[in-house]
Amino acid sequence: MAKLIVSDLDVKGKKVLVRVDFNVPIKDGVIGDDNRIVAALPTIKYIIDNGGKAILLSHLGRIKSEDDKKNLSLKPVAARLGELLEKPVTFVASNEGKEVEDAVAAMKDGDVVVLENTRFQDIDNDFGKRESKNDPKLGEYWASLGDMFVNDAFGTAHRSHASNVGIATAMKAEGKPAAAGYLMEKEIKFLGDAVENPVHPFVTILGGAKVSDKIGVIENLIPKSDHILIGGGMAYTFLAAQGHKIGKSLFEADKLDLAKSLLEKAGDKIVLPVDNVAATEFSNDAAHEVVGQDIPDNEMGLDIGPKSVEKFREILKDAKTVVWNGPMGAFEMPNYAEGTLEVGRALAELTDATTVIGGGDSTAAAKQLGIAPKITHISTGGGASLNYLEGKELPGIACISDK
Ligand code: 3PG
Repeated sequence: MAKLIVSDLDVKGKKVLVRVDFNVPIKDGVIGDDNRIVAALPTIKYIIDNGGKAILLSHLGRIKSEDDKKNLSLKPVAARLGELLEKPVTFVASNEGKEVEDAVAAMKDGDVVVLENTRFQDIDNDFGKRESKNDPKLGEYWASLGDMFVNDAFGTAHRSHASNVGIATAMKAEGKPAAAGYLMEKEIKFLGDAVENPVHPFVTILGGAKVSDKIGVIENLIPKSDHILIGGGMAYTFLAAQGHKIGKSLFEADKLDLAKSLLEKAGDKIVLPVDNVAATEFSNDAAHEVVGQDIPDNEMGLDIGPKSVEKFREILKDAKTVVWNGPMGAFEMPNYAEGTLEVGRALAELTDATTVIGGGDSTAAAKQLGIAPKITHISTGGGASLNYLEGKELPGIACISDK
């Protein structure tokens, strides 16, 4: 059933609690990438432009000690949001108690308030991890601050926490709406269409270090995809399953049988690298060469080779839907980045296909190449997008009211 969307809500004069995912890379108070803040702007703007009061909640990092709190305040994030919105944003240095209630009571229509990191509730209390273990009382408290709830935190949708599921549950119990924000709507549309209703040919590209991280995705997408192109460290367990020598390459012995059975199940849908860039050490400066599917004993595969790129490109050129998650090699080292960059270029060249990218490294590659505007959708979710591609129900989506 279709979900309630923020645009279905009459927000005028209302206090709208918004769960955003402002879990951005931050060091010494400096934000490394504000993409997730930018991605939340349409929802925030809808609320304030229509006379609502936006009360924002987000986590940042993982809080295990008092010390973590020093480095993981949302204060710099609130400041960046103010710059992006070009208007004052009030930051409240707590997320429970009088200071919060006073700040909310003082809000005028169109105002924006950012409360402190929701995971500050994960220490120093009787319950334990109140946010991450979804203490119902915390969800009820936050819900009591607003008239309606909007969940725009797709990146956190695979978590069942007080600030998403807890608030939605408490709101709905009071007969108040819990809607999806525009970002959540967009993520569900592109990832959902790709997985549930792809235009064929549908090509899935998977990479990254481990088979174990992508098993669920491969199993879910074998019946739906026309081709599954596999690169990155995980390819070597598959090549070993086909009887190839993989030298010192990454190998998950306990996943060998699984790799064999996935290859059997997929028939020729799974396409593995036909050549590799292999090096003597895991180092950019190590001696390296292009080899075939068998890797010499003293070498490790660190990227797909030029013939693999050609083969992947050939398959991709007819694709109408492409989902890409995970790098094709040790992308952080320039000598082994080409396979990943070539896949990015191939996606950018597709003019008549829906292209969806998820995962940190693939997204970083798209940014490095400057091709982001040519990609239909770059997901803001890491774990959340993988869970979605696995066909799992995400609690942060399930808790949103139906239309
Ligand atoms: C993410 O960055 O994947 C989300 O913000 C969730 O963060 P978490 O893995 O710490 O729950």
